[in-house]
Amino acid sequence: MKIKQELYEKYNQPTPRYTSYPPANYFKDADNYPEIIEAIKASNDENPKNISIYIHIPFCGQLCLYCGCNTKITSDQNVIRTYVDTILNEIDLLKPLIDSDRKISQIHWGGGTPNYLPIEDIQLIMNKLYSNFNTIQNPEIAMECHPAHLTKSYTDELVKLGFNRLSFGVQDFNDKVLETVNRQKPLLSIEEIVKHIQSYDNLSLNLDFIYGLPYQNLNEYEKTIKKAAGLKPNRLAVFSYAHVPWVKKQQKSLEKFGLPSAKEKIDLFQKAYDILTEHQYTPIGLDHFADPEDVLTHSLKTKQLHRNFQGYCTLDTTGQVYALGVSGISQLNSAYLQNTKSITKYVKSINEGVFPIEKYYFVNENEKLIRQIIEEIMCNMYVDFNKVAETNKIDVNQIYKITDVDFKVLDTFKDEGLIHFENNILELTAQGQFFMRNIAAAFDPNMKNNTRQFSKAL
Ligand SMILES: C[S@@+](CC[C@H](N)C(=O)[O-])C[C@H]1O[C@@H](n2cnc3c(N)ncnc32)[C@H](O)[C@@H]1O
Ligand code: SF4
Repeated sequence: MKIKQELYEKYNQPTPRYTSYPPANYFKDADNYPEIIEAIKASNDENPKNISIYIHIPFCGQLCLYCGCNTKITSDQNVIRTYVDTILNEIDLLKPLIDSDRKISQIHWGGGTPNYLPIEDIQLIMNKLYSNFNTIQNPEIAMECHPAHLTKSYTDELVKLGFNRLSFGVQDFNDKVLETVNRQKPLLSIEEIVKHIQSYDNLSLNLDFIYGLPYQNLNEYEKTIKKAAGLKPNRLAVFSYAHVPWVKKQQKSLEKFGLPSAKEKIDLFQKAYDILTEHQYTPIGLDHFADPEDVLTHSLKTKQLHRNFQGYCTLDTTGQVYALGVSGISQLNSAYLQNTKSITKYVKSINEGVFPIEKYYFVNENEKLIRQIIEEIMCNMYVDFNKVAETNKIDVNQIYKITDVDFKVLDTFKDEGLIHFENNILELTAQGQFFMRNIAAAFDPNMKNNTRQFSKAL
C-alpha cells in the first residue's frame, strides 16, 4: 500500500483524533455540581447498560521525553499510598449513584504506569470493585504496563485477579532511539515477558510502538516491526508521535536531535503497515492491528466495532465509562465528565466527599448523531446513512444538514480514491483509511470554524 505523497501533504493538518465527540478541548469548566450528579444518575437509564471502569494511575519511574500522557515521576510511597486510598474512597462515592442491576463489562487500568503500583494495591482496588459491583460473564480486564516493572510473578497475580488483556509499551527495539527518549529498560527481556504472557491461554497481549521519534529510519524501523510481528502479539498499536511541546514541555528537548519529517513519518508507518499486513494482521482504525483470530478483526468484518476512551471494543463489551483517578474522563451517553489533573486537588475533593470533576460537556441529540457517524467512520470505515436515519427516526437529508457536510468535499475524497459514496452509503477505501480523521472531520460542523489546537492528522 503506497500512500500518495500529494494527499498526505494536503491532509496533514491539525485534526481531532475523535476519541470522543466533541473532542476534549470542547469541554467546559464544571460549575454546577448538582447538575453533574444528576447526569451520573441519569446514565442508569441510558445505553449501553454495561459499566466500563477506567482507573488512571498517574505515576511512572522515569519520564520518557516523548510522553503525552498524564503522569508524574515519583518514588514517594506516601504519595502513592494516599492516591490508592483515594481511589478506594472514590469507588465508595460512585457506588450509591449506580443502579445495582447494572454490571461491569470492562475494567481498564491506564496511566502513567499502573504496574508501577505494588501488586497489593492492585488487589485492594480490584477486590473493592468486585465486592461493590457485579460483572458480566467475561468482562474485559486490561492493564497498560511498562516492561520496566513487569515480572513473571506480577503477571501471575494479575491473572489471578481476572486480568485477561495486558498491553505494554515497547515503542522501538532500537537502543539508540530508546536511550535518546530516556526510556527505562525492561526488567526482563521483551521476548521473555511476552513468552510468559503467551503461556496463558486467556491472556491477550498488545504491544505499543511509536513512529516519528529521533533516529528512527526505515531500515531500523523495519527490523523493529519485523521483530514485533515475530513475537506474535494478539494486537499491536503503532502510534504516530504526537509532538505537542506547548502542552508537554519536555517534548521540546527532542527537537535538538532532529525529528523525522512528515514524509519520513508516513514512510515509517507505511513500512509498519506493509510488514504487519504481510503477517496477516488486520488494520483497525487509525493505528491498531489485530491478528485474524482477534475479536476486533471479527467485529470489523461484521461492522460491529466500537470505541470508547478505553480503545476499540465490541458491542458485547462496550459500556458507559466511569473514570476513577486524576484526569480520567467519564464517557456517559449524554455527558463527558473529567476529573481534575491535580493529585492534590483530587485527594482533597474526595476526602470532602465531592467528585473532583473539573470539566464537563453535555451532549445534545444532534451531537449524538454526529458522534455516531464519526464513530462508524473511525471504527468500521463504513456508514450506511439510510440505516442511521432509520434508527434515529429522521430523514437522511436531515443527517446531512445536521453534520453540515459539504458534498463537494466528499466528491473530492471520491476523486482522490479515498471513499466510495453511493446511495447514501459511505465506505473508506484502503487508501482512505490513512485519512480517516480528515474524512470524519468532514462530518464535524465544528471544524468549519475551528479555532482549537489539535495534533496533525498523520
Ligand atoms: C500509558 S502508556 C503505556 C504504559 C507505559 N506507561 C509505557 O509507556 O509502557 C501509553 C502509550 O501511549 C503512547 N504514547 C505516549 N506518548 C505519546 C505521544 N506523545 N505520541 C504518541 N503516542 C504516545 C506510547 O506508545 C505508550 O505506550
Ligand atoms: S512510561 Fe509510559 S506513561 Fe510513563 S512517561 Fe513513559 S510513555 Fe509516559
